[in-house]
Amino acid sequence: MRIVIRVAALAAFAMLAAGCNRTAPPTPLDQLNAQQMSGHAVFESQCARCHADRTDQKLHGPALLGVFKKPYLPSGAPANDDRVTDTILHGHGLMPAMGNTMDQQDVNDVLAYLHTL
Ligand code: HEC
Repeated sequence: MRIVIRVAALAAFAMLAAGCNRTAPPTPLDQLNAQQMSGHAVFESQCARCHADRTDQKLHGPALLGVFKKPYLPSGAPANDDRVTDTILHGHGLMPAMGNTMDQQDVNDVLAYLHTL
């Protein structure tokens, strides 16, 4: 009896530990709403050459998979819309400013898409 309890406790612990390390997967592309869809298109044209979105592969910049599911951006800045908007408009470190090639609508849409990752 006692061993059963121990095994159950171990199993529960293992599930908890696994759960902590895994963030929820991105929303499937065919379930995106209209704004998230256009954000995906903006991402493909403006960000994808330097950032992976649906894998954790590092390209020129860090992967953006789960970017808003973590508390901090790779730089350590808080992961929120303001901070990411700032990064897009003004650049950050080796990332160029994208403010000239994107309007406010593009920025809003790409943020909406990033929230689905
Ligand atoms: C020409 C390549 C390039 C493009 C295009 C690009 N990025 Fe980046 N991005 C980078 C690099 C390189 C970094 C790492 C910057 C650093 O810390 O030096 C980065 C960092 C970031 C970060 C993390 C910032 C932080 O504080 O850690 C975010 C978020 C980001 N990019 C979003 C985007 C989005 C959204 C787009 C498209 C609108 C985009 N990037 C387009 C190269 C790029």
